[in-house]
Amino acid sequence: MGHDQLEGDAGPGLVPGRTLVSAEQLAERVAQLGAEITVDYAGRSPLLVGVLKGAFMFMSDLSRVIDLPVEFDFMAVSSYGHSTRSSGVVRIVKDLDLDLAGRDVILVEDIVDSGLTLNYLRRNLLARNPASLEVCALLVREDHSVDESILRYEGFRIPGEFVVGYGLDVDQRYRNLPDIRVVEQASGAEVAEAS
Ligand code: IMP
Ligand code: MG
Repeated sequence: MGHDQLEGDAGPGLVPGRTLVSAEQLAERVAQLGAEITVDYAGRSPLLVGVLKGAFMFMSDLSRVIDLPVEFDFMAVSSYGHSTRSSGVVRIVKDLDLDLAGRDVILVEDIVDSGLTLNYLRRNLLARNPASLEVCALLVREDHSVDESILRYEGFRIPGEFVVGYGLDVDQRYRNLPDIRVVEQASGAEVAEAS
C-alpha cells in the first residue's frame, strides 16, 4: 500500500497535510448517499450499524440526510498491529446492543483499506440473520481486495495514501478535522516541538 513508508514512525511525527476531500465535497456526497438510501429503503426502518470510532462523524451526518425512521447501533473493533496498517486480525471490543434478526442492516464504515476488517464484520453480522445487510463506506481504497458487489454505497475512491479527518485518525488524533487530509511527515522543527 502507498502508506507503507509510514511504518515504524507513527505518532507526533505525522501531521495532516494537503486536503484530499473538502468539507463541501463531503457534505455534497453524504447528501447524495442519504437520498439514495432514503429511496432504496422506502417504507422500512433500516438499522445503521456504525463501526467505532472512525465512522462516528460520517454516520452522524449521513443519518441526518436519511428521511426514514432509522435506528442506531455501534460496534467497536480493534485490529491488532501497527497504527497505520490493518493486520486482518479483528477483535470485537464493543458488541452491538440490538438483535439483528430480521432487520435491514446498513453497516457504516469510515474506510475500506485492505478490506480485511469489512470481510470479517460482514461474516460476523450475517451470522446474526439480518433480513438484509448492505455496506456504506465513506472511503474506499482503489486497491482494496473485497468483492466489489458488497460495496453497495460508497463516498469516494481514494489512492493509497494514509488519511485523517472527519472521524479518521492516526494514533487517535485529527478525527475532528472537518475535511479529509493526507498525513505527512512533520518537518524537524515540528517533531521537536511535539515531543
Ligand atoms: P482494512 O481492514 O485494511 O480495510 O482497514 C480498515 C480500518 O483501518 C479502517 O476502518 C480504519 O480504522 C483503518 N484505516 C485504514 N486506512 C486508514 C487511513 O488512511 N486513515 C485512518 N484509518 C485508516
Ligand atoms: Mg482507526
